[in-house]
Amino acid sequence: MGGFDVAVIGAGAAGMMCAAVAGQRGRKVVLLDHAARLAEKIRISGGGRCNFTNRSVGPANFISENPDFCRSALAGYTPQDFIALVGRHGIAWHEKHRGQLFCDDSSEQIIEMLRRECQQGQVAWRMPCAVRGIVRQADAYLLDTDQGPVRAARLVIATGGMAIPQLGATDFGLKVARQFGLKVVEPRPALVPLTFDAAAWQPFAALAGVALQARVRTGAGKRGAEFLEDLLFTHRGLSGPAILQISSYWQPGEPIGIDLAPELSLERELLAAKPGARQQVASALAALWPRRLADAWLLAMQERLPAGFGALRLADAPDRALRLLAQGIHQWALVPSGTAGYKKAEVMRGGVDTRALDQKTMQARAVPGLHFIGETVDVTGWLGGYNFQWAWASGVACGKAV
Ligand code: FDA
Repeated sequence: MGGFDVAVIGAGAAGMMCAAVAGQRGRKVVLLDHAARLAEKIRISGGGRCNFTNRSVGPANFISENPDFCRSALAGYTPQDFIALVGRHGIAWHEKHRGQLFCDDSSEQIIEMLRRECQQGQVAWRMPCAVRGIVRQADAYLLDTDQGPVRAARLVIATGGMAIPQLGATDFGLKVARQFGLKVVEPRPALVPLTFDAAAWQPFAALAGVALQARVRTGAGKRGAEFLEDLLFTHRGLSGPAILQISSYWQPGEPIGIDLAPELSLERELLAAKPGARQQVASALAALWPRRLADAWLLAMQERLPAGFGALRLADAPDRALRLLAQGIHQWALVPSGTAGYKKAEVMRGGVDTRALDQKTMQARAVPGLHFIGETVDVTGWLGGYNFQWAWASGVACGKAV
């Protein structure tokens, strides 16, 4: 039976980082993964170019029941540290908007970089290899795998979240946590499109493909959030960065509020254009807003506006109705019926409850030698490279400790 200092289950972003760091410290490390292809989520990330970090990362960019937990690991391994690593491997990158950093060529370069870092740490691989069971012994963990038993003094769970099960995502990490008596914060799809009741959405379904900047908010107080980003209409509901971001904060049953013209004051513009204007209300709106959206919006809101409102000359449109129209666009309130689910989600929110983990080592305080890192843990980043930065940072913190 192989005896190791450290066994890491899950050879994704966090697992490879952790294995490499521990291996390069001289630990005898084995990395196990049930997938046939290495690090599929890194491969498909950022449209194939991997948004590997963000220039500006702090605890405010993460959601967790224990918001300060991520602070120590994020401070211990910063975006600059990862940029330096990427630079040492000669990977060219560029910055997109809001500090998001992407590979110039391909996310495969990040996978290859991590593979080489593991090689430098003489990490042993078991892949594809399913782990059927884990038994804790006095001074070690015994893994029953389909490549035979593996024994290790320390066990790191880095099996990620449940998003994109078609790529092999599982709830393995949550099951292990429960096996060892740790609490789990209810997992849910996050960074995910929102869906609506088919009948209620019918007037907007024709808008599928329309994208525009919007300010989206949900919740109130500490649980509230607001994002100004692009929004995309789909056949079943809403997507685009603004919606993905807000979905991570949205609680089932709660409304979301959307300002579909955040840079304008429609009321002021329409009322100012009104005196003597011969154009129709629909055309006046379309001069300020995407034409398809203007037409569909007037149709969808027809019950709340005077009959034939869109076809009225702007000069003849009552101020009250123009105000109502503007208000509806700036303060669109709607209750999603749900999300598009794990199949379409970028991440899982919730996970292993961090109140049971040590923030410097990621070790379960009550279960010596058992560590959890990456997305399995209840730390969920915003869209924009934050989830990878958490994977790298928690992986490094753990790799230095095991
Ligand atoms: P990760 O999912 O990377 O790795 C987990 C590993 O565990 C996998 O290799 C899996 O095969 C293995 N595993 C699972 N269950 C197992 C089991 N039972 N037994 C053995 N092995 C098991 N983030 C970001 O910051 N920038 C971006 O550009 C993107 N883009 C993006 C696009 C898409 C489409 C998705 C779905 C996600 C992103 N993300 C992202 C999120 C990011 O991919 C994610 O947060 C990290 O990969 C999480 O790293 P982990 O190492 O925790 O899990």
